[in-house]
Order: sequence, then structure tokens, then C-alpha cells
Amino acid sequence: MWDPSHSFCKTSMSSLTNKRILLGVTGGIAAYKSAELIRRLQDRGADVRVVMTRAATEFITPLTLQALSGHPVHQDLLNAETESVMGHIELARWADLILIAPASANFIARLAQGHGDDLLTTLCLASESPIAVAPAMNQAMWANEATQENVAALASKHVRIFGPDEGLQACGEVGAGRLLDVDGIVLLTEKVFPSHLLDGKKVVITAGPTREAIDPVRYISNNSSGKQGYALAEAAIEAGAQVVLISGPTGLPAPDRSRRVDVVSADEMFDAVMKEVGDADIFIGVAAVADYKPVHREEQKIKKGDAPSNQVLRIDLIENPDIISGVGHLAGRPYTVGFAAETQNVVEYARKKLTKKNLDMVVANDVSDTSIGFNSDDNRITVLWADREVELPKLSKRNVATRIIELIAQGLREAGRS
Ligand SMILES: Cc1cc2nc3c(=O)[nH]c(=O)nc-3n(C[C@H](O)[C@H](O)[C@H](O)COP(=O)(O)O)c2cc1C
Repeated sequence: MWDPSHSFCKTSMSSLTNKRILLGVTGGIAAYKSAELIRRLQDRGADVRVVMTRAATEFITPLTLQALSGHPVHQDLLNAETESVMGHIELARWADLILIAPASANFIARLAQGHGDDLLTTLCLASESPIAVAPAMNQAMWANEATQENVAALASKHVRIFGPDEGLQACGEVGAGRLLDVDGIVLLTEKVFPSHLLDGKKVVITAGPTREAIDPVRYISNNSSGKQGYALAEAAIEAGAQVVLISGPTGLPAPDRSRRVDVVSADEMFDAVMKEVGDADIFIGVAAVADYKPVHREEQKIKKGDAPSNQVLRIDLIENPDIISGVGHLAGRPYTVGFAAETQNVVEYARKKLTKKNLDMVVANDVSDTSIGFNSDDNRITVLWADREVELPKLSKRNVATRIIELIAQGLREAGRS
């Protein structure tokens, strides 16, 4: 079956493009997830080689991981044959990152102690590259003081700890200790290698809802959480950009290293954008800006009984300024990206928006699906340019953000503006 994420990822740059990742798989129930992890790291452009502990081979076969990685799986330290092909020191030097996923309690203990009694621990000792572990174990094993001390010891030695997650475990218990989902591991792995895709670029992003005051205590607003815009701000920062985040009211903390400008209404957002966008390289309008605002804001709180005799209280609305279109039609505008949150004919409406608002790129999503869009942590998007479009699979909003930033960087390059 055609997988759009596959073809897209193979052609675009990611921070994992050509990175050499040594994936260590240890003995635990979650070892089967390493198969999916290999594919997903490869999708992002990484070259993956696998090392398995002896226990890991009881949970998933080396043959499976060999077939998926396209390389022989390394298992033994003291094996003359494999040592003559690619010795353990050579393998340690080869890796840009050693990622152990899943990492058993036993492996974490041995790594914390500096053991070198099997191939994987020896490689970790011999490598000067970053090491990351994604623990996966029963919740009691994870909570055990010994495990916690071992994890703290690893963290103090700059070993990155990816997860674990909380939830229902294979053993039927509930708690912390589950392997972080593959999406999350890939995302954290990408963070190990800054992409530099937007080094030095000024990126202005709008996020969150706007509030249009009816009276001093009431307003018209919408369900936008701001999560996608904030995630984009983080992804742009990781790509090296200077980010100005113009945010409507959200409960979200400002991403580190961003400059946040807080606004409430669409008018305030419009003014803030126009002030910032003049010297921007990229503008991304993610905010769910209210299309309409009350014509009059009442000075005092509207009371029961204020309605005319027929008990219908009318609030007349007037259109707000269209921020994205305003930026799209500026002379010498930045690379301008809009979002189209639609409930029907998503791609068709998004394409109309692209043309009408004079945008470089539109990110369309279907907000009628409650498992994606507003307030959820996931999103599934289609990205449109004047001459093409690409559909991405359902991903976390953080992962979607990383993909969008890569596509923007690609668009800038193609437009000769990078
Ligand atoms: C069915 C089964 C499931 C296991 N699952 C886990 C697990 O999820 N996490 C873990 O840390 N250990 C788990 N263990 C224990 C490890 O397999 C054991 O500690 C082993 O020595 C780990 O070896 P390694 O760290 O060299 O891979 C499991 C054992 C069995 C029999």
C-alpha cells in the first residue's frame, strides 16, 4: 500500500538524514516495537544498524530486525567472524548515536555500572557519541530505588533518558514504565541532532484563539488550544530560527528561546503581526482568529432583562481583519503559510484559501474529526502549494510541527529564498 509519509520523508531533509544510528535492543516485552522504530528512523533518513542482547533474541528474532534494517544484526562480542567484518570499536565509531530501545532494567543497571561484558555495553563504553536509553519495564521495576538510582546515574553522565510512558502494561498492571511510543522516541532522537534548517531566520507565528468582547465579562471565542502553534514555535526554534510567537489566550507556557507577544482580540493580533512581520523571513498563521466581532462592546455587563420586550437579545457582528490575507498581500512579504481548519471539503477549501489569500503554502486539517485538530494531541494534515500537495499520516502535533518546518525550509529553498 502506498504510504504518503514514506515518499514524503524520503525526499525531504530531516535532522536524521544520513545519521548513523546504532539501535540497541534488550530483553523485554517491548522488543517487538523495535521493528517499527527501525522503519520510522529510516523514514526520517537515518541509517540504522542493530545490536541485540542475548535476552532480546528471545523476544524478537534477529532475522526480522536484519530484514528491516537491511544489515546483519550484531550480537556477540567474542566472535572472530563478525569482529573481522566490523569490529566492536569500529562499530562504536560508526555510530552518530547509540539508542537503546527498549532498555531493560538489567541493561540500565549494567550501563550505569560501566560494565563491558557483552557487545552492547562494550559499544557504549567505547563510543564517544551521544547515548540515549528508552526504558521499558514493569511499573514496580521502574519505581524500584535501584532502578531510579541507576537512571539518575546515567542522566548525570549525560545519557539521554527517553520516557518512560505511563499506562496499561503488558503484565496487566498500570503505571510508569511503558516504552515511550515510537513517535515520541523518533521525535526525541531528532532533537539530538539540531537540523539548522532555519538558522538565523526570523519566524513570526500566531497561535491560539482570539476573544472578541461582547461586554466587560463576556466574549466570543473558539476551541483552539494553541497546541499546534506552540509546537511549531518549538520546532522552528530547534531548526535554528528566531521565533516571535503572537499568542491569543492559552494556558500554555511560552517555549524557551521564543519571544511571546500576548494578545486577546483579532484586532490586537493584526496590529502585533504587522509590527513584527516587516523583517520576518517566514510568517505562519496558525491562530484560530475569530472571523467576526461584535460591532459594539457594551461598557457595562449586559443584564437579564436588558433584552427588548420580545426577549431576543441581538448582537450585531462585523468582520475582523483577515490577518493571513493581510500578510499575503504585503509587498515584499515573508514566506507565508496559512492553516485551514475545515469540517468538509477540506482540501478544496484549503486550495481556494491559498489562491485568494496569496499564500505560499497552506496546511489543511479536518477539525470535524475529534481525534485530531482542536484540543487533541494528534493531527493529520495535508500540505498544499500552488503546484502540488502532500498528505501526512496521523502524528503527534509535535511531530506534525517538525514535518511542517522541514517542508517550509524546502519551500524556501525552492523559492530561492533560503
Ligand atoms: C516474559 C518476560 C518479559 C520481560 N520483560 C521485561 C521488561 O519489559 N523489562 C525489563 O527490564 N525486563 C524484562 N524481563 C526481564 C529481562 O528479560 C531480564 O532481566 C534479562 O536478563 C534482560 O537482559 P538484557 O538486559 O541483557 O537484555 C522480562 C522477562 C521475561 C521472562
